[in-house]
Amino acid sequence: MSSAIVVGLCFGDEGKARVVDYLAKDFDVGCRWNGGPNAGHTIIVGQQKYVTHLLPATVLYSNKLSIIGPGVAIDLAVLERDLIETGAGSLGNNVIIDKNCPMIEQKHKDADTGDNPLSKKIGTTGRGVGPCFADQARRSGTRYKDLVDEPAQADTSAIIHHAMKRGKSVLFEGAQGTLLDNIHGTYPFVTSCSTLAGSVYSSMGVNPSYISDVYGVFKAYTTRVGNGPFPTELSHQPLTEKLRMAGGEYGATTGRPRRIGWLDLVELKRACQLNNVTKLVMTKADVLSGMPAFFVCEAYEEGFPAYAEVPGWSGDISNIRHYAGFPYNLRKYIARIEDFTGVPIVLISTGPERQQICRGA
Ligand code: IMP
Ligand code: MG
Repeated sequence: MSSAIVVGLCFGDEGKARVVDYLAKDFDVGCRWNGGPNAGHTIIVGQQKYVTHLLPATVLYSNKLSIIGPGVAIDLAVLERDLIETGAGSLGNNVIIDKNCPMIEQKHKDADTGDNPLSKKIGTTGRGVGPCFADQARRSGTRYKDLVDEPAQADTSAIIHHAMKRGKSVLFEGAQGTLLDNIHGTYPFVTSCSTLAGSVYSSMGVNPSYISDVYGVFKAYTTRVGNGPFPTELSHQPLTEKLRMAGGEYGATTGRPRRIGWLDLVELKRACQLNNVTKLVMTKADVLSGMPAFFVCEAYEEGFPAYAEVPGWSGDISNIRHYAGFPYNLRKYIARIEDFTGVPIVLISTGPERQQICRGA
């Protein structure tokens, strides 16, 4: 079994964690490689809801190794809470933190509040991640190994290299999304690190030849938290509210209401290229159920999105487990996205629960 990357194709909150949770059963190791506690990864198992900020979603499987790589900014208090809330317990055999992780200090959090004009302008999550990475770039930051005893100092790059060489498979879980990438996103309204699949190689220092698939995750519509361009954002307040309610579109880290808009196929196609996506995953298809019609951006004309109308479908799809059981218009929507991007949609989620996911055609 070879390794794979799960990456967000939009502004984050695409549902990467629930996809990792679904795929994890076929992998030996899970690994977070970027971002920090600005991420909020939600997984629902039965009646239980878990939100992790630093730990990969594989942590819910006690028989998997979960790794935080050296490119992840660590806040020790958040790490502690993640360990408790996911039931992972303590660091040790099943959860390993890289010795070179940059540490978020109180001064980083103090510098990343609404009082800071730049944080306010961007609408950051306020978790100190940007100032922490800035200190790393300045070469003045503290690393995990500066704070812990020698036995706790792990070289996760080497651990993963040897695991892969022995035939073990690793699932890399991205944070944020392509349009929040520090270089290719909507700069300056972006996060402070790379969010692309390619950053796995530089951040983890692993051999790309062991990684065969890049799963690109997107929602059936689009959301954004924080400020910055969102060309397909909805201006129709009642509809925004309706979709926000139906999709539970509130930030998992900050609780902020997410901005809502239509799917932007032009940007989705670009995101597929930037990440070399081999498989697409569409989440929250159920949220659009019951809309007579909705829209999708298929081109830009003089800088503005040009929309195509998509006929909707009715009925509850949350219990459908086979592609053939989907309403005709949902299958047509899926095919339209595949045609536009040139990438197959291999999984479609129809609800937040672990089992509410269905293979593509
Ligand atoms: P920062 O990463 O906290 O500096 O925030 C920079 C921008 O990225 C803001 O617009 C945040 O709302 C956004 N952002 C950061 N992390 C996430 C995430 O996990 N999901 C969605 N948006 C995020
Ligand atoms: Mg999130």
